[in-house]
Amino acid sequence: MTTLPIRIAPSILAADFAKLGEEVRNVTAAGADWIHLDVMDGHFVPNISFGPDVIKSLRSYTDATFDCHLMISPADPYLEAFAKAGCDRITVHAEAGPHLHRSLQTIRHLGKKVGVTLNPATPLSVVENVLDDVDLILIMSVNPGFGGQKFIPAMADKIAAAKSLIGDRPIELEVDGGVTVETAPTVAKAGGNVLVAGSAIFKGGSVEAYRNAISALRNAAEGAR
Ligand code: DX5
Ligand code: ZN
Repeated sequence: MTTLPIRIAPSILAADFAKLGEEVRNVTAAGADWIHLDVMDGHFVPNISFGPDVIKSLRSYTDATFDCHLMISPADPYLEAFAKAGCDRITVHAEAGPHLHRSLQTIRHLGKKVGVTLNPATPLSVVENVLDDVDLILIMSVNPGFGGQKFIPAMADKIAAAKSLIGDRPIELEVDGGVTVETAPTVAKAGGNVLVAGSAIFKGGSVEAYRNAISALRNAAEGAR
């Protein structure tokens, strides 16, 4: 099985929205690998966050990969706008529309890395027929909509099953929700390599605090492999 590097992807959902540019710059300086962008529509999930215009205005604050997690339904009419806003990777929910394969192809044709994500209750089998069409599988380890929730323990087995389904394919296995220094070892042991974390990183407000939080997560994950 392929071993991709551990990547830490801070979710700016937990950042100070009044100074997002500075937060993105600081978390990049602190060692973030990817910037995780949680887009919520108040329809697919019971919360509203931000859209492509905000992402576009953040683009100049970092060279880090913009990892966009779309919690919107439908997603297809907006994919081009997110691509143009500067997202490098776009991940859609399998539950967000009836034509997942078409959504994935659209992202591919826009020249972006393609991701698919599953809510905790959605079986992994949903992605079996699109494995050749994705660069990333995101396993939600909380019900999407809010930061600061607890990691659902049953998701450890789902991550491990996703890892074996991926096999030798160069597909990133990302995990999102309730990732902390306590749960990062479980995630990494099960085979997750991209760790999204919001509330575990955005506390303290300084580059130094963010750096400590990021390296604690990275060490916890790498030590468990
Ligand atoms: C939840 C989002 C997550 C969230 C993670 O809907 O997709 O990315 O911000 O937050 P924490 O790390 O606090 O669970
Ligand atoms: Zn997310």
